[in-house]
Amino acid sequence: MLTIAHLSDLHFGRLQAGVVQRLSGDLQQVAPDLTVISGDLTQHGRRREFCAARHFINGLPGAWLSVPGNHDLPRINLLERFTEPFARYRRLIGPDLCPVWRHDEAVVVGVNTARSFGPHWNWAHGRISRGQVRHVAEVMASASPHQTRIVVAHHPFVAPEIRPDLRLVGGRKAATEQFARCGVDVILSGHFHVGYAAPVTHEAAPDGHVLLAIQASTATSSRVRGDGNAYNLLTFDGPRIDLQIRRWRDGRFEPGPMRRIR
Ligand SMILES: [Fe+2]
Ligand SMILES: [Fe+2]
Repeated sequence: MLTIAHLSDLHFGRLQAGVVQRLSGDLQQVAPDLTVISGDLTQHGRRREFCAARHFINGLPGAWLSVPGNHDLPRINLLERFTEPFARYRRLIGPDLCPVWRHDEAVVVGVNTARSFGPHWNWAHGRISRGQVRHVAEVMASASPHQTRIVVAHHPFVAPEIRPDLRLVGGRKAATEQFARCGVDVILSGHFHVGYAAPVTHEAAPDGHVLLAIQASTATSSRVRGDGNAYNLLTFDGPRIDLQIRRWRDGRFEPGPMRRIR
């Protein structure tokens, strides 16, 4: 059995009062095998925000894996944004923007979908490149059949039911088809600050393989969008995946019901 705490959109620099300390305590109690942070660790990509995020990460129990989000790029200093967009993230969080974590029961691959600019006005949009998809496929090719295959990316692959109009990660069609072919089971993302789980529709379903997208709300930020602060606790046991949402309520993270999602 393997447990993963899936946190997203911490946004150090714009925190909900009192939440970070309680979250650290809750994670100590839950003691997951791995804590995943699916991007937007900071609000403006400032040094002091990254230092605070790093301090939080240092207090995590066990292993952790993180990818950058669109907010982790320098927002004010455009020269820095274009010349070395991930320098601060690399220095203060981790040098690897596409980290891999291996465990007897799972292989987890992070993908950096944040971009410093794009051919549109909103640079918050994300993209997955063909090279990144190839990298995921190469890592997954070395996984054994009984290992759960997990991808972590900040930008979502599936929209929430209530907002089907929201823009998803660019390049997702080719990516999800390749993910399905190489047996990816789950994609963990954030960005919308809304938590939900849904199957990803794709055209490559070799044996009816279901690729699940699991979104986490913002764990600690005051930028809640109707969903409140929460994080996901995932339990992987053979082919079974259970999801529990732990919501911030009355000054603590309250465990919700355990839901079997596969
Ligand atoms: Fe965010
Ligand atoms: Fe974001």
